[in-house]
Amino acid sequence: MRVRPNPPFEGISPVAHGALDPGELERLGVDPAEVVDFSASINPYGPAPAVLEAARRTDVSGYPDRECLGLRRALSEHLGVGLSWIAPGNGSAELIDLLARAYLSPDDASLVVGPTFGEYGRACRLCGARVLRWDREVGGAGGVSLDLDGLLEAVLRERPRMVWLCNPNNPTGDLLSGREVRRLLRVVEEAGGLLVVDEAYRELVLRGEPDDLTGLLLEGRGLILLRSMTKAHALAGLRLGYALAPPEVVRALAVARPPWSVSAPAQAAGIAALSPGARRHLSRCKRLLARDAELLTAGLARLGLTTVPGVANFLLVEVGDGGRVREALLRRNLQVRDCASFGLPAHIRVAVRLPEENARLLAALEEVVPL
Ligand SMILES: Cc1ncc(COP(=O)(O)O)c(C=O)c1O
Repeated sequence: MRVRPNPPFEGISPVAHGALDPGELERLGVDPAEVVDFSASINPYGPAPAVLEAARRTDVSGYPDRECLGLRRALSEHLGVGLSWIAPGNGSAELIDLLARAYLSPDDASLVVGPTFGEYGRACRLCGARVLRWDREVGGAGGVSLDLDGLLEAVLRERPRMVWLCNPNNPTGDLLSGREVRRLLRVVEEAGGLLVVDEAYRELVLRGEPDDLTGLLLEGRGLILLRSMTKAHALAGLRLGYALAPPEVVRALAVARPPWSVSAPAQAAGIAALSPGARRHLSRCKRLLARDAELLTAGLARLGLTTVPGVANFLLVEVGDGGRVREALLRRNLQVRDCASFGLPAHIRVAVRLPEENARLLAALEEVVPL
């Protein structure tokens, strides 16, 4: 008898993501060391030196603290949120999985505000949940529009157990205000569900300041905030994120989490990233990135390319055929994210990188667009 995986696994594939794929590069004969990666939206100025130093100094011979007490204490002080409201994770990606596992049963409805990061849907489907989508409209230079009233009606109609909102959204870069999130939360609660707001790019909002949702969180009913420390602090290889959530959710996450999932170097780097020096480093990086984003957007406009206006450290650019443009750029040692998996085959997503790298991308795009 052949033993098969559980039924939800049938027909689910791994989600497409940015970042370099050594297997693909090998097939194309491209040397990974030569590739500039615009496909993962990470702070290109790198972490504060003290953050790397803290990770390097860590003794890795013993198991890490399963409770991540030092890191949670530092986060608690930094954010003004009690320890019992903080759940660490091996990147925020782990927390997405754990939340779905903790709260979804087969046939539950789960609503994803799209087009967005693919992991929410995957995590829900693996639990056997039905995934409903409520999509923004993506309209080129006209921007992105989310019919919030329509979304609220859909929530009341479908009564999903979980609603997933990425804010600012990957890949469209639009940001809901605190008032808009509050309206959504009230309706999700009325429908008996939980609202997960993924703030992975919160610290890399380059235009304006995102509203602080921790006040809304502490009202304490159905809101969960996900934060990533891998993007702003350029620690994607180390893996570190956390959830801010009511204590009963934090307890459920602690049960669902495999032991020692957050490594000792990641915990040490996370604590160091909250120090005043590292915060100043990040503020400096953001000022530089805001300037770099403006220059890159202007350069794309000069090439006649439409950039969907967004607030974060990545740009959604309409190029005609995203897959072909990605491949043509990869052959020139530049990797961008083709957005077909988001349902946007005419677009690529481009992280804002260092000025000289952005200039290289613009020069290459001039050669390859229109294909
Ligand atoms: C919207 C969003 N959430 C979460 C993640 C996962 O981030 P982490 O590195 O913290 O697991 C990503 C990574 O690309 C992302 O784009």
